[in-house]
Amino acid sequence: MCGIIGINSNKPVATTIINSLKKLEYRGYDSAGIATLYNGLINEVKSEGRVENLEKNSIAQNMEGTIGIGHVRWATHGLPNSINAHPHSSQNVSVVHNGIIENSTILKKFLIGKGHVFKSQTDTEVIAHLITENLKTENIINSIKKTLKSLHGSFALGIVFKDHPDFIVGARRGSPLAVGYGPNENYLGSDSYALKSMTNKITYLNDGEFCVIKRNNVDFFSEEGTRINKKVLVLSSTEEKYDKGDYKHFMAKEIEEQPITISNGINEYIDMSNRDINIYNFPWKKKEISSITLIGCGTAYHSCLMAKYWFEKLTNLDVNIDIASEFRYRKNRFKQDNLYIFVSQSGETADTYAALDLCKNNNVKTCAVVNVVESSIARDSNFVLPIHCGVEIGVASTKAFLGQILILYILALKFALWRKEIEKKDFDKKLSELKTLPKLLEKTLLVDNKIQTIADTFNEAKGSMFLGRGFSYPIALEGALKLKELSYIHAEGYPAGEMKHGPLALIEEGMPVVVLAPRDSYYKKTISNMQEVIARGAKVLLITNKSKDEVISENIWKKIEVESTNEDLLPFLLTIPLQKLAYYSALKKGYDIDKPRNLAKSVTVE
Ligand code: F6R
Repeated sequence: MCGIIGINSNKPVATTIINSLKKLEYRGYDSAGIATLYNGLINEVKSEGRVENLEKNSIAQNMEGTIGIGHVRWATHGLPNSINAHPHSSQNVSVVHNGIIENSTILKKFLIGKGHVFKSQTDTEVIAHLITENLKTENIINSIKKTLKSLHGSFALGIVFKDHPDFIVGARRGSPLAVGYGPNENYLGSDSYALKSMTNKITYLNDGEFCVIKRNNVDFFSEEGTRINKKVLVLSSTEEKYDKGDYKHFMAKEIEEQPITISNGINEYIDMSNRDINIYNFPWKKKEISSITLIGCGTAYHSCLMAKYWFEKLTNLDVNIDIASEFRYRKNRFKQDNLYIFVSQSGETADTYAALDLCKNNNVKTCAVVNVVESSIARDSNFVLPIHCGVEIGVASTKAFLGQILILYILALKFALWRKEIEKKDFDKKLSELKTLPKLLEKTLLVDNKIQTIADTFNEAKGSMFLGRGFSYPIALEGALKLKELSYIHAEGYPAGEMKHGPLALIEEGMPVVVLAPRDSYYKKTISNMQEVIARGAKVLLITNKSKDEVISENIWKKIEVESTNEDLLPFLLTIPLQKLAYYSALKKGYDIDKPRNLAKSVTVE
């Protein structure tokens, strides 16, 4: 999704801004742009498509100026072209913006009435003109304050002023924004990751705050325009190196590194010498929690659903799950003895953050399960459980999904132990089995060749279905999501038992259907459902686990066997062939695997 960079330095900034924009490419975007102040002018260059196109532009290559802002845009208002790309400038103000201005139509009408002329179809352009309008009567601080007050919706802003070439203004409401500090230069960024190559000293803006970034100091202001002091955080490392290595795509690498990331997660939380789970400084007593609500979006929501099955099996807690975009607008009954768990790779997803904010305002217990520990969701939750996966670049989440479900499984086990709902010997056994998971994943990853040929059939089909029961149902949803987002093939995930209630009508001769039927407590029921779809002409790809017992069913089109382990852990292994199916299917179609169309890695608008 959109990303912002701003640099105020004593040397030319254009190249550094463009290089930093490349760090934001992983978020997903469709155009890019930069503006610097030089010789009393705003110089602006924008291009459709990749940052590479901006970099190749000869004007951008020769851009002067020691102060500037840059942006990668993911279209919300107006087509993804160079005119709508940011920055957007009036005669004296240039703005980059993440978020959505909900009252832009009304503001635009008002500004046109005042004689302002608009070039783009975006909501952002109104911000530049509104500041210009306010500057006619107010000083800089007051014009910013007044402008921010008039804006409805969410924003993170970077603003430069033609007549004040010594500072950048940053402002935040809803969308994250960070300030970074360097030697004789300071920075603005939509996340700390974008700034990491330049600094590890960061201050995060809170909602409503704005700042004035000069070369040698930064002033922070509250919504009311009062000066405030903010903490400078020193992040763990200046830059985490992450590249594709020998892989063609980040996604391929991220799939293959899952044994390592899962092993990291296990090592962080499991203490085998004491046969215990280390969750330090958990802020609540066990009696204070009698139910749990898990909230997330997309793949993270599937992790929540997965967790529900484990929590309900291992504990007596009541467990609810919710899609963040639904939770945030429903009339919820907030309960003091409920733990609200927010699951998010990026920790910046707008809907998930809004759901967290709602919980915070209702003073209930909040916990974040995140990958990015410096993220807004992590910072604003009462307690954080990091998933320790390292940077995930592929827009389609793979290793973060397994990382999320690992931590949620570990948490379910810990609750079961705390609440004495699992016998210690069973708990110990489950820990030992969990320890073997990285090796089992490694072996399961060898299914490669088989999947490559299977992918062709999916690519030729009009649509496909993914079926599973119990522990496999969330994985069926996740498999279908991966295939549709990467290969643009219609794919639906369903609980296998629901087929007769409608979806069976979709099955026709030759339709590929993935059936997840590991040898768990649901096995026999799922096999019956599989036979029903085979009888109606489906081409079934059965994914089960290795067993000495043959699968008793005729006419299975293809079968993939993952390694065997206890039924709690089979969902991890079943996920692997589904990730690979989506990957190879998109590879064969020649699609942009790491950046699927219309999607973004960090969904910072609702
Ligand atoms: C799908 C995918 C998305 C994300 C969703 C939430 O592969 O990655 O569905 O899971 O946008 O993102 P996070 O986890 O960053 O909150």
